[in-house]
Amino acid sequence: MRQRPFAGRQKELDGIQSCLTDSDVTGVVIVGDAGTGRTRLAREALDLFSADDREVAWVAATHALRSIPFGAVAHLLPPDWRPDGDRLSVLSLIAKQVRERGGFRPMLIGVDDAHLLDAGSAAVLSHLANQRLAFLLITVRNGARCPDAVTALWKDGPARRIELAPLPDDGGGLSPDHSPAGQPEGCGLQVLHRAAATDRSVRPGAVAGNRRPAAARPRLSPREHSVFVAYASGLTLQSAARRVGVSPATARTYLERVKMKYQQLGRPAQTKLQLAMRLSEDYPNEIGKR
Ligand SMILES: Nc1ncnc2c1ncn2[C@@H]1O[C@H](COP(=O)(O)OP(=O)(O)O)[C@@H](O)[C@H]1O
Ligand SMILES: [Mg+2]
Repeated sequence: MRQRPFAGRQKELDGIQSCLTDSDVTGVVIVGDAGTGRTRLAREALDLFSADDREVAWVAATHALRSIPFGAVAHLLPPDWRPDGDRLSVLSLIAKQVRERGGFRPMLIGVDDAHLLDAGSAAVLSHLANQRLAFLLITVRNGARCPDAVTALWKDGPARRIELAPLPDDGGGLSPDHSPAGQPEGCGLQVLHRAAATDRSVRPGAVAGNRRPAAARPRLSPREHSVFVAYASGLTLQSAARRVGVSPATARTYLERVKMKYQQLGRPAQTKLQLAMRLSEDYPNEIGKR
């Protein structure tokens, strides 16, 4: 089933972005009642702010996993890891993996329903944030009791808290095309695609009322094209690589070539949002074919 286009959370996205650029902050906790859109906001923010060179991961805490120590973060362990009963080694192994995956930048990790984390997973994630190995985008249900390690992150630690109010209504009021200044209210990629498709001012060089001449499109190889479509549709670089069947490093190379080719045509495509706009302009029928 297709999801509704993401909308109505510009303020929250701005808040998350300013935390991401503040070196003292290594996490945002999104608190709200069930159904207010915590998971969706965290996912959209993860997609939106995962720059090319930032590794991302998703940790989903559930009632079922809660009974298994480190269950929620087990996928962050090295593939050849075997249980040896040493809890400290789990923590340091995950920290090592995350440090290596992140390279010079903290990984971006979504942690959904953190109130359901087992104590071990909570301790690992809090360690990652405190050591600045990861920036955490955490969702928590209003009124639920969290593991102490998570609560401490925003009480005295390096995370900030966002209270999520319910969206104003269930349909028309959220439409990005009806915001006062003609700007999209929300800033998810799907919203951007709609804005780019309807607002000719974001199509540099476009002749009013006409489609861009075909010559202005860069010539992309099939692989470059596939990585571009997957990534600019909202996938992370890692997921786009998986989708196309190449390594993340190869996908990055393809994406660099795509950016360069657009650059040569005088059409900026350095950021994920700019790439999403180029996709809207040049291949509107392929958005979401990821
Ligand atoms: N900003 C939004 N724009 C459009 N749809 C949204 C938005 N936020 C949430 N939704 C939709 O509302 C439903 C509930 O959102 P969800 O993120 O699962 O809530 P929560 O995690 O708080 O329980 C989902 O179908 C989701 O896609
Ligand atoms: Mg949820």
